[in-house]
Amino acid sequence: MKSTPRQHALRKPYDGKSKDYQSWKTCRLQLHDKSHSTDTEPCLLSSSLTDPADRSALGSLCASVRNHGYARYQWSDKPAEVIKAVEQLNTALSLTLHDPGVVQAGGGLSLLEDKSGTDQGSFIPYTSRAMGWHTDGYYNDTAHTLRSFTLHCINPAASGGELSLLDYELILIALYDEDPELVRLLCDPQSMMLPANRDSLGHDRPDRHAAVFFINADGQLGARFTTRTQNISWRTEDTLAAAQRMAELIADNSHWHQTVRLEAGQGVITRNILHRRQAFTDDESCPRRQMLRGRYTQAPEFNARS
Ligand SMILES: [Fe+2]
Repeated sequence: MKSTPRQHALRKPYDGKSKDYQSWKTCRLQLHDKSHSTDTEPCLLSSSLTDPADRSALGSLCASVRNHGYARYQWSDKPAEVIKAVEQLNTALSLTLHDPGVVQAGGGLSLLEDKSGTDQGSFIPYTSRAMGWHTDGYYNDTAHTLRSFTLHCINPAASGGELSLLDYELILIALYDEDPELVRLLCDPQSMMLPANRDSLGHDRPDRHAAVFFINADGQLGARFTTRTQNISWRTEDTLAAAQRMAELIADNSHWHQTVRLEAGQGVITRNILHRRQAFTDDESCPRRQMLRGRYTQAPEFNARS
């Protein structure tokens, strides 16, 4: 059956044509150029957040996440209890409403490590395999849209495991530059369909539909996307073609990719932007790769007066 053409548009300043959009686009591209011309060293924080400099560092972290999509931090000391310290940091950034993963470590965090050969290892984050570009929780219902994810490195892999990040705001600009119709197709609330999933690990969701680009309740742009082709279908052939073009623009604009290798005691706070993971190898001569991941329905915020 031929689908009815539908018109879906984003509000200002993300509408692709207004003066507000032109100003936002100029500003966003300048922010990217600036982040490339200045060194983006991780913010230094004490793991207890008791150092007087921590408050301004937390404010800088949030500003960087808002402007660039992500920020890195590094602890200046080693905490006695790493899970508690990560939970405390995320709570200080107003990240409290979490979306638990398959392997829960406590504090609303998931422990990502290679669990191949176990039930959990049937999920790609819990393996050593590469993961393609995606946003976390693209299959969640609207009420549980993920606004942020965090990763804290307990141990890096012996080799590999680098994380590449790319702000979807830049990809929206690239799509508009090519053809605004691509954006309209990807803003359809039914542009992607994620089939129902039920398993013994507690996943239980019906078929879901979602838009790739949408506006959150606070007026900020949000996105859901995956380059996976399994367990996803696109509304029409035109929608599929738009999604494929978006995947090509993500791959082709490698100057927008930010690749980080997290070392022990380092982490990232993100706006749930596009990211991918390289495959990694653990080595018996050193501790296995372990990352604590948090996923939240809130965007990071720091209240300097609290
Ligand atoms: Fe992810």
